[in-house]
Amino acid sequence: MQPINQVAVIGAGVMGSGIAAQFANAGIPVVLYEQHQQILDRALEGLLSRKPAALMDPSSLGLIQTALVGDWQKLTPCDWVIEVIVEDLEAKRKLYAKLEAHLPSHCLVSSNTSGILWSELTKNCGTEFKRRFAITHFFNPPRYMQLLEFVKGPDTDAETTQRLIDCCEQQLGKTVVIAEDTPGFIANRIGIFSILNGIQLAIKKNIKIEEADAITGRPLGMPKTGVFGLADLIGLDTIALIARNFRTQLAKYDYAQPVLGMPDLMEIMLRKGAIGRKIGRKGP
Ligand SMILES: NC(=O)c1ccc[n+]([C@@H]2O[C@H](COP(=O)([O-])OP(=O)(O)OC[C@H]3O[C@@H](n4cnc5c(N)ncnc54)[C@H](O)[C@@H]3O)[C@@H](O)[C@H]2O)c1
Repeated sequence: MQPINQVAVIGAGVMGSGIAAQFANAGIPVVLYEQHQQILDRALEGLLSRKPAALMDPSSLGLIQTALVGDWQKLTPCDWVIEVIVEDLEAKRKLYAKLEAHLPSHCLVSSNTSGILWSELTKNCGTEFKRRFAITHFFNPPRYMQLLEFVKGPDTDAETTQRLIDCCEQQLGKTVVIAEDTPGFIANRIGIFSILNGIQLAIKKNIKIEEADAITGRPLGMPKTGVFGLADLIGLDTIALIARNFRTQLAKYDYAQPVLGMPDLMEIMLRKGAIGRKIGRKGP
């Protein structure tokens, strides 16, 4: 299968910039797209100071060029476009409509959605786009998390699937797990439930944040951050969007529904803009 020689990543937030860095680590040039130049400048600057380091060698930053959405000419040499924008179905659909009009015919497309269905994302797309579209769900931080969930739809063709999986495994060193097109796929069906359930229990039982994180991290076989630390890493804004999507996508009687509301504490922090470490401010 033809290797991927250049990619475009659209969205330079926590995940988009981290994914761009991981391609640069693999020696693959990236065009990183955003809505505003200031966001791109901040993203590149952030990659040089991120802890743990996003780049294996700071000089790899040179492999990431930036572009503003609309400058679609820069897609011409790209083999794969990865959409990593806000977890909002309508925003993603609008972007795909633009991409459909400008995408080079050889270019594959994927979304880094945390749990929106392939069938929902592509609802308004033509067959030609669907043939080249899959979900490649990288985890945070993209350089260090081995797992990558892959979801295809009924129209995704076999070549798209194989080429994306080969790139993720052989060029980026990921372990690819193929998931069904169900809400939250595998990881977030469990993960978002666990985070919100853990946080709500800790608040209810008056357990300190540090204590809750100490219990819910390694001792439970979960990420070492613990539930509060993980929410802080992911971003409370993104957690709120994932939970909202889940509430809509899951059946009303689903066991996860009762914990998918954001706790009051997190709502207050969201309103105050204290959304996590991505803005350089700590939690409560
Ligand atoms: N945060 C995590 O830990 C995590 C992990 C796995 C997957 N994801 C998923 O990755 C995606 C991005 O999440 P994130 O945490 O990086 O979010 P983020 O809020 O940090 O970044 C999103 C970026 O997208 C940009 N954006 C929004 N609309 C755009 C558009 N139309 N065109 C170009 N750029 C646009 C915003 O300016 C912002 O910089 C979401 O789908 C999310 O669910 C997040």
